[in-house]
Amino acid sequence: MNFPGNSRRDFVKQSGVLAGGLLILPNLSKANFFSGADDVIKVALVGCGGRGTGAAMQALSTKQNVKLVAMADAFRDKLDACYKNLTAENTTEGANAKGSVKDKIDVPEERKFTGFDAYQKAIPFADVVILATPPGFRPMHFEEAVKQSKHIFMEKPVAVDPAGVKRVLEAAAMAKQKKLNVVVGLQRHYQNSYRELYKRKGTIGDIVSAQAWWNNDGVWVNKRKYNQTEMEYQMRNWYYFNWLCGDHITEQHIHNIDVINWFKGSYPIKAQGMGGRQVRKGKDHGEIFDHHFVEFEYADGSILNSQCRHQPKTMSRVDELIVGTKGRIQFDAAKIVDAKGKVIYSYNKEMENNPYQTEHDELFAAIAKGDYKFSDAENGAYSTMTSILGRMATYSGQVLEWDKALNSGLDLQPKVYDWNAAPPIVPNEDGFYPVATPGITKYV
Ligand SMILES: NC(=O)c1ccc[n+]([C@@H]2O[C@H](COP(=O)([O-])OP(=O)(O)OC[C@H]3O[C@@H](n4cnc5c(N)ncnc54)[C@H](O)[C@@H]3O)[C@@H](O)[C@H]2O)c1
Repeated sequence: MNFPGNSRRDFVKQSGVLAGGLLILPNLSKANFFSGADDVIKVALVGCGGRGTGAAMQALSTKQNVKLVAMADAFRDKLDACYKNLTAENTTEGANAKGSVKDKIDVPEERKFTGFDAYQKAIPFADVVILATPPGFRPMHFEEAVKQSKHIFMEKPVAVDPAGVKRVLEAAAMAKQKKLNVVVGLQRHYQNSYRELYKRKGTIGDIVSAQAWWNNDGVWVNKRKYNQTEMEYQMRNWYYFNWLCGDHITEQHIHNIDVINWFKGSYPIKAQGMGGRQVRKGKDHGEIFDHHFVEFEYADGSILNSQCRHQPKTMSRVDELIVGTKGRIQFDAAKIVDAKGKVIYSYNKEMENNPYQTEHDELFAAIAKGDYKFSDAENGAYSTMTSILGRMATYSGQVLEWDKALNSGLDLQPKVYDWNAAPPIVPNEDGFYPVATPGITKYV
């Protein structure tokens, strides 16, 4: 992958975020092996919602001797629901699992943690940490897991603002020095059809343009409840607040944008786009847009047209397309066609895997062997930044350059994480939140 600035060394020089101590070799103890006297690989789960429960199940369904030993969530009810799911009688799935998932749960009351600081309490018990909270917290949680020398599975996106991207890049460099395996849940990298298409990307010649779509009805809404503080309300309805979610261009469409970056082997240098909210604009819809269309430009002049829309009863498509001088890659169809449209490669979809499981199979196999094999955080950060650049472009309506956006200092996080503290964005007296306005909203 051609990271912006070409190499980490250049990145160190250019960004100045990797100053001082990080260049000193850290203490490598426990850095590339797990800590137990037996062969048990201990896992802590941070963020016990839908994906956290799924990821824990997948970790416990690998061939290795894995145990869930600690859980952390902002809310006790979420943690309890996850624990109940993981310990239910029927959790025996998992192609590779030795024994049922529920037998691999060893989380007594004293290793269940809740609140904003729960992650700090759960991480010390583990060899591997699963980070699956809303993405606003990811930089902070990733930093802590790296500091404590843990292997990591973290969900995408890995940040919601440029300041968070920089924190993740800094911690990623430290993770590399400590030889900590880091897998990011951009699972198309672990999906057979994408991997086979990637091997054959040369057959389409030079990439000249690409398209990416995440168009569908949208996601859940958790309406405000009586007696909630503003902080609790936003935490429970997190999808609609950028300090937690980053808008759906970052939260979901990152998957498609990342595929194009991966196949291009680089990241865009600038973006411009348009977007807004036409359908999803109620009080419980916070501040995010319901559509974005962004033109990303790469250094070689090639263009990615990216579109994402959350509007019911409109065309649904979650897919990518890459056009080269000699042909096209159609990702959802898993086909490569030549310039005349003749199919020159077609992936047999019967061979498709469950990439969510493969991520964990490969990660835990590497950890058990003591191998250092995965360093996904840097690409995760740069693909996250690509999606943030897109959001900054649609919110402002300006042409935004990568370097200026990354160095804009935009930091959406609250100063204080507390149930009674004011979140960074609050509603007006009618209960509506401020929404970005192209032409008025400014970033650089
Ligand atoms: N790779 C994929 O295809 C995929 C699919 C779904 C979700 N995800 C990602 O997983 C992440 C979580 O999504 P989800 O659908 O599970 O959401 P969710 O709301 O179901 O779960 C999030 C959980 O994190 C908890 N949480 C919030 N803040 C916390 C904090 N500071 N400390 C500890 N716990 C905290 C919440 O209470 C909740 O239980 C998101 O980043 C999302 O993009 C990825």
